[in-house]
Amino acid sequence: MAHKIAVIGAGHVGGETARELLARNVGEVVIVDIVEGLPQGKALDMSQARPILGNSFFAVGTNDYRDIEGSDVVIITAGSPRKPGMSREDLLNINLKIMTSVMKEVRQYAPDAFIIVVTNPLDAMVYAAYRLSGLPRNKVMGMAGMLDSTRFATFIAMELGVSPSDVHAMVLGSHGDMMVPVLRYASVAGIPVTELIPKERLDAIVERTRKGGGEIVKLLKTGSAYYAPGSAAALMAEAILQDMKKVIPSSVYLQGEYGLSDVFVGVPVILGKNGVEKVLELPLTDEELAALRKNGEHVKELQKAVDAFLAEQGLA
Ligand code: APR
Repeated sequence: MAHKIAVIGAGHVGGETARELLARNVGEVVIVDIVEGLPQGKALDMSQARPILGNSFFAVGTNDYRDIEGSDVVIITAGSPRKPGMSREDLLNINLKIMTSVMKEVRQYAPDAFIIVVTNPLDAMVYAAYRLSGLPRNKVMGMAGMLDSTRFATFIAMELGVSPSDVHAMVLGSHGDMMVPVLRYASVAGIPVTELIPKERLDAIVERTRKGGGEIVKLLKTGSAYYAPGSAAALMAEAILQDMKKVIPSSVYLQGEYGLSDVFVGVPVILGKNGVEKVLELPLTDEELAALRKNGEHVKELQKAVDAFLAEQGLA
């Protein structure tokens, strides 16, 4: 039977995620939004590319959450994007309300689906989705590390003039300026980047990666990135549905790994048919570990704000 993927939010990120899912032939896509006509229009438009792309599945747009019934994966992009000068945390209260209403519907119509959260502030939103879903931790994850890592890899490829597909680079931590790009594990065709790029250039690349989202917000002026985020979210869904066992940095609920507990932080995981099948514990330097733990403390503060909100709503 064909896989079914629900994309919640038909905005920039949702639209691009759905289009990428179709281009990758992952399965049937249902796009949901509260704005009438928006998901229907986008779904029709992207489905009309099928004869050109030769892909098998089409997208359906809807304002009715009942249509997500039977979904194997739900990707949540509903929410307000960042505007210039806004931090991801500024978005917390706005998007928490949206996440609460989305999860009520997901719980009703697709209670067993894997959930991939894209809405920012990412680590806090995925925690909210996890709490509201009642699902085990292998089924709820956030898309961030893949995006930060692909940005990191892109800047390395640009610096060296090599094919991006030859670059492997990983970013750990929370999705924000505190992220931890681990240079020691970045390589080009197996060659450590530290052998290929001088330190001051590498420092500049790390800095640009950290500010990668903000750079795009500044340029776009009216919203935030969506092409690379859409590709990253679609890849995570594909890795689960095709049981690819891909190593993808994702925001997952840690329970002792890296010395962190009860907190969503970006770490490399294996994604396969059981969702998050394994958290890979990389050996880290004291400095990297300290940075990762600082991320954990920061996210815990945000999680407290989520807990307070849910308690206020009588949802906890
Ligand atoms: N159910 C479904 N869709 C909703 C709901 C809801 N309850 N509430 C809002 N939406 C929809 C909006 O109508 C809008 O079409 O979510 C969509 C968001 O789209 P954009 O405003 O274009 O935002 P986008 O750039 O896609 O970013 C969405 O992803 O990367 C993150 O920071 C980003 O949190 C933001 C999210």
